[in-house]
Amino acid sequence: MCGIIGYVGPRDARGVVISGLRRMEYRGYDSAGIAVLDGGAIQWRKKAGKISNLDAELAERPLPVSGTGIGHSRWATHGGPTDQNAHPHLGGAGRVALVHNGIIENFASLRSELAAQGEVFVSETDTEAAAALLGREVAAGADLAEAMRRVCRRLEGAFTLVAVDAADPGRVVAARRNSPLMVGVGEGENFVASDVSAFIEFTRHAIELGQDQVVDVHADSIVVTDFEGHPAPTKPFEVTWDLSAAEKGGYDWFMRKEIFEQPKAVADTLLGRYTAAGALQLDELHIGEDELRRIDKIIIVACGSAYYAGLVAKYAIEHWTRVACEVEIASEFRYRDPIIDGSTLVVTISQSGETADTLMAIRHAREQGAKVIAICNTNGATIPRESDAVLYTHAGPEIGVASTKGFLTQVAACYLLGLYLAQVRGTMYDDEIAKVMEELAATPPLIQQVLDSLDAIRELAARLVDTESVLFLGRHVGYPVALEGALKLKEIAYLHAEGFPAGELKHGPIALVDQGVPVFVVVPPQGRDQLHDKVISNIQEVRARGAFTVVVAEAGDPEVGAYADVLFSLPKVSTLLQPLLAAVPLQMFACEVATLKGYDVDQPRNLAKSVTVE
Ligand code: F6R
Repeated sequence: MCGIIGYVGPRDARGVVISGLRRMEYRGYDSAGIAVLDGGAIQWRKKAGKISNLDAELAERPLPVSGTGIGHSRWATHGGPTDQNAHPHLGGAGRVALVHNGIIENFASLRSELAAQGEVFVSETDTEAAAALLGREVAAGADLAEAMRRVCRRLEGAFTLVAVDAADPGRVVAARRNSPLMVGVGEGENFVASDVSAFIEFTRHAIELGQDQVVDVHADSIVVTDFEGHPAPTKPFEVTWDLSAAEKGGYDWFMRKEIFEQPKAVADTLLGRYTAAGALQLDELHIGEDELRRIDKIIIVACGSAYYAGLVAKYAIEHWTRVACEVEIASEFRYRDPIIDGSTLVVTISQSGETADTLMAIRHAREQGAKVIAICNTNGATIPRESDAVLYTHAGPEIGVASTKGFLTQVAACYLLGLYLAQVRGTMYDDEIAKVMEELAATPPLIQQVLDSLDAIRELAARLVDTESVLFLGRHVGYPVALEGALKLKEIAYLHAEGFPAGELKHGPIALVDQGVPVFVVVPPQGRDQLHDKVISNIQEVRARGAFTVVVAEAGDPEVGAYADVLFSLPKVSTLLQPLLAAVPLQMFACEVATLKGYDVDQPRNLAKSVTVE
């Protein structure tokens, strides 16, 4: 949610900033801007719309070459996506330029206070109040780093700020609270950015900035303090993935590339986490086994697709551990006064590790004494840092706004955690765990098989591209898969779609079914329970009312063919593992429909990849 970058060094800052913004455009793409130091002045350009609009502006009104620059790609919160509201914002009569990610909650009172002192605001943003404060501090004689610290002490909310001062060239100062900021450490040059992808082209050495810290960056030095100016500890790390992982590699969309990366992403997530005998070893889970044995309730907290991954996991975790497991939407969690104590285990799931709703939920849970385990895809992000332990998914960077490999790896990581809890608590025999683990480890090639069998999806998308509404049905773990399928279609194809538990149909939603309404149904594998047969009955119910049925079912299922207008077959797996396969055709369907409609699949309207505001 907003990508920000700063650079100091011998390169042309214009190029560094624009290429960094392009890599972070997934974070927000309502508008973009850049400022560079030019002798004793700041020169800037900013434009509403995508970075291509800023490119056109720069082609028409070029900026001078400079070794110091900052940039911003915006996801609008305060003030619409206009040129005026785009960042950078200036303060101190143009002496400082500032870019911001987050929300300054006390901006209204700061703006009135400053307006009463004669400050004139030209935008509707919260950021401009911080820029004005910063301008005043440097005008009063504070150096840029001290001025930034003083400003931060006055701000409430979530912010990452990056600023330059015309009177102090060769220096960029940044600060963070509740929003991400990484420092890229080069040789004779340094970077700051919301995400390492912005500078990975130049350096893999990075430092993650802690909460409430300010970093003062010159080409040859990096000094980190807290908001009071005391030296602060830093945590250096190496970025392990390379640039190609964050590039499209011949695909039209990052989303399509990421769908195809799922076999590897799931395999990487499982890698090294079980022994040859199938026993779980989660060495990174620094919570004592005694403590895990004392747990009497698990609450999974997450948003969006990550929440749906949690809903899938609930079925497995309760079945394997016999511990009650609730799943809660993070933005609802802390406002309902949840019952949590020292024997509650809270599991948060977040691809980005920066989702503000999830972060606030874990803070609340920890205040109440719960232990928190984060399942996260982003090394060193705020959510894993503020949790008691973390289990990383190893999906690699997910750039497409719609989560795909993020979702599948979250399900896989939750399963590892569930099996580990069962192992520690003795609720499954070793051979039972080994059997599930063996089946889980065998899923990546099966996901590949599903990917290889999707030729008919494009034809289906062409047939349904003008439909007005699509329903998705499932039972048991197929129900959250249905929800996920509907979410994909809503967010990238802007199509009305709803997921329902198939058994709920007759309690209301069946009234939506009419002649030709497309209904996707996820059918559980044939098994000993009656799940499968019940879903077959549900398909018949919608067919009887004229639905166009798209059925996702186990290959060779003799009962589905008669009721499916279109059938997608999945390799045979047990019920609990089926989501790892069944989600794939639904993701691909959404991708194809959005492509046919001519929409920007990777950057759908109104959305951003990492939602760092509540
Ligand atoms: C949907 C999607 C979102 C995210 C949600 C949580 O495709 O991507 O619903 O799943 O915003 O994001 P993370 O996992 O980063 O906390």
